[in-house]
Amino acid sequence: MKQIQIINGPNLNLLGKREPTVYGNQTFEDYFLELKAKFPDVKLDYFQSNTEGLLIDKLHEIGFTYDGIILNAGAYTHTSIAIADAIRSISVPVIEVHISNVFKRENFRHHSFLSEACKGCIVGFGLDSYRLAIDSILNNN
Ligand code: DQA
Repeated sequence: MKQIQIINGPNLNLLGKREPTVYGNQTFEDYFLELKAKFPDVKLDYFQSNTEGLLIDKLHEIGFTYDGIILNAGAYTHTSIAIADAIRSISVPVIEVHISNVFKRENFRHHSFLSEACKGCIVGFGLDSYRLAIDSILNNN
């Protein structure tokens, strides 16, 4: 059974309540149940933290054993060299995802410190970005 870890960074615990015109009305917990139902043959795990170091600890913890990691680092995407270094330090491929199309938004969201360290990026498809990332891991692209 494939093991895939979803890691969400700061403020993504407020999905459903947070800026619904940008991020939609659904909570991640609710969407995660849908994802699990869609991929019954995958061991899907979910972790969220608002703390940079805890995101790095999670990458270290599972970064040598899982089949793939889907990371939405929230605003740390645009600031964190430490998370980029953590991605480079592990062997499991990481897919960077964003719910919103960051390239349609403020200039400071156009740069990611993480993209260069990731296998690929999926940006702007709403919560479906996570499903697309799982498909890409399962298809081994
Ligand atoms: C986000 C985009 C980031 O710029 C923002 O800081 C977030 C969410 C997204 O999923 O669209 O917190 O990563």
